Amino acid sequence: MKLSVAILISGSGSNMVQLIKSMDNNHPAYPGVVISNKPDAAGIKKAQDLGIPTEIICENSHKSNGLVFERKLRKILNRYEIKIICLAGFMRILSKDFVEIFKGRILNIHPSLLPKYKGLNTHARALASNEQFAGCSVHLVTSELDGGPVLAQSKISIDKTDNVESLSTKVLKEEHVLYPKVLLKFATELKNL
Ligand code: GAR
Repeated sequence: MKLSVAILISGSGSNMVQLIKSMDNNHPAYPGVVISNKPDAAGIKKAQDLGIPTEIICENSHKSNGLVFERKLRKILNRYEIKIICLAGFMRILSKDFVEIFKGRILNIHPSLLPKYKGLNTHARALASNEQFAGCSVHLVTSELDGGPVLAQSKISIDKTDNVESLSTKVLKEEHVLYPKVLLKFATELKNL
């Protein structure tokens, strides 16, 4: 039986689209649901256009209460019998308890060569530090922000003319290739366990 994947987004969902498209008939996993914590995330319509069920957990009503947010999230994940969670531009930190429940089954993509530049504004910080290289990392999610074991990375050179916009475009292109590759390997190994 194929493994059901939840893709969690907060924004444009370009990584989500690539993950969905990669899960073809021969893939060991399928996109079960796309979940957004932002009702106006552009990715929601993209998922719907691709025929994938979507769910919104409105963050504003749960700002002061992460427990309620995650209780709703867990209900949805159970309903869709989710086996793998892919964070794809999901800009909310999951609690230690939540991560523990899905231990070893949550992936995240981060736009830096981890362990460098965890957190936000990665490209601006890499440029400010005169880095020669940038890139992206797919890692397992643990309770430490962007700190779980790295599964794979993609590295590119930073040109002298690069700015935040050009660098983020170049890195995003790499993300779109890397994340589906890692998901395929991860799902294949999980299925064969
Ligand atoms: C991507 O660059 C992703 O790596 C980054 O947000 C962007 C989402 O783009 N994620 C993080 O910074 C998480 N810490 P997308 O919505 O078009 O996939």
